Amino acid sequence: MRLAHCSDLHLLSHDGARWLELANKRWIGAMNLISSRSRHYHVAAFETMVDDMNALGIEHVLCTGDVTNLALRREFEFARGKFDRLSNGPLGVTVIPGNHDAYVAEGVPLFAEMFGEYAAADAGWEWAEDHRHDADDVLHWPIVRIRGEVALIGLSTSRATPWFTAYGKVGPGQLARLALVLADPRLAGKVRVVGIHHPPAGRHAISRIRGLRDHHEFAAVIAQHGANLIVHGHEHQDLVEALPGPDGTSVPVRGVASGTYLHNKPERTARYRIYDIEGGQIRGDHVRIWDKERGVFERAAAVAAEAI
Ligand SMILES: [Fe+2]
Ligand SMILES: [Fe+2]
Repeated sequence: MRLAHCSDLHLLSHDGARWLELANKRWIGAMNLISSRSRHYHVAAFETMVDDMNALGIEHVLCTGDVTNLALRREFEFARGKFDRLSNGPLGVTVIPGNHDAYVAEGVPLFAEMFGEYAAADAGWEWAEDHRHDADDVLHWPIVRIRGEVALIGLSTSRATPWFTAYGKVGPGQLARLALVLADPRLAGKVRVVGIHHPPAGRHAISRIRGLRDHHEFAAVIAQHGANLIVHGHEHQDLVEALPGPDGTSVPVRGVASGTYLHNKPERTARYRIYDIEGGQIRGDHVRIWDKERGVFERAAAVAAEAI
């Protein structure tokens, strides 16, 4: 299977946000947006990425969140329309929320409404009420989607946070359920790919402002139960880390840069990564990068076939 990982699209329609909708925290985000964001995050890049994925016949697309900027209904509608151009359809595309999709509290139900089909668990993987940990626990997560030899496990770390912060948290209920998923006999022999918005390892994980608050607890679940690959977004750069798995194994943790960004740093230019999964293993991966002038995505020679 070829699995594509993209993240942090921050799709913005230019007829987008009406000022009346910009309540509470949103006005800070809106100023941010006006000052730089809309000039550097290009919807055209995602349009071209979708064409590229469709042309390549990618079997599954995993997007690790931040599809919007301010979690406005209009933004979710706009983003949903763009995702609907993927020929795989919602069963072949998995989207989890990022902190921008939960920018304010109403973002969480809006994501569920607008991207529910892209974040639907397979039948038999629904969570019963007795799995609820506390009142804040969103029982929907984690989601499990089994596609051939790959088991995709999607987490939600995103919640409305105080001004000027962008941290995430898996939460004790979701962590307990993640442990159950990773140990579930239905996943025996599957390549277990965990998608999470916030980086769970390395120096970015420990930031109190932008990191993953319960990265220690997450690492403990991985140390006990393992996984084949953990992918994340949020930092808008390609990152390579690892977490210890059981029995001396190492679990790769890979971040991908934004799928729509274009500014003066070539290493952050809009991209996505393809993982080749075969015979129960991840055989390799490579990046495809946007060439705005030529209107295409192309395989990046410099980082091609970096084995993990
Ligand atoms: Fe982002
Ligand atoms: Fe983010």
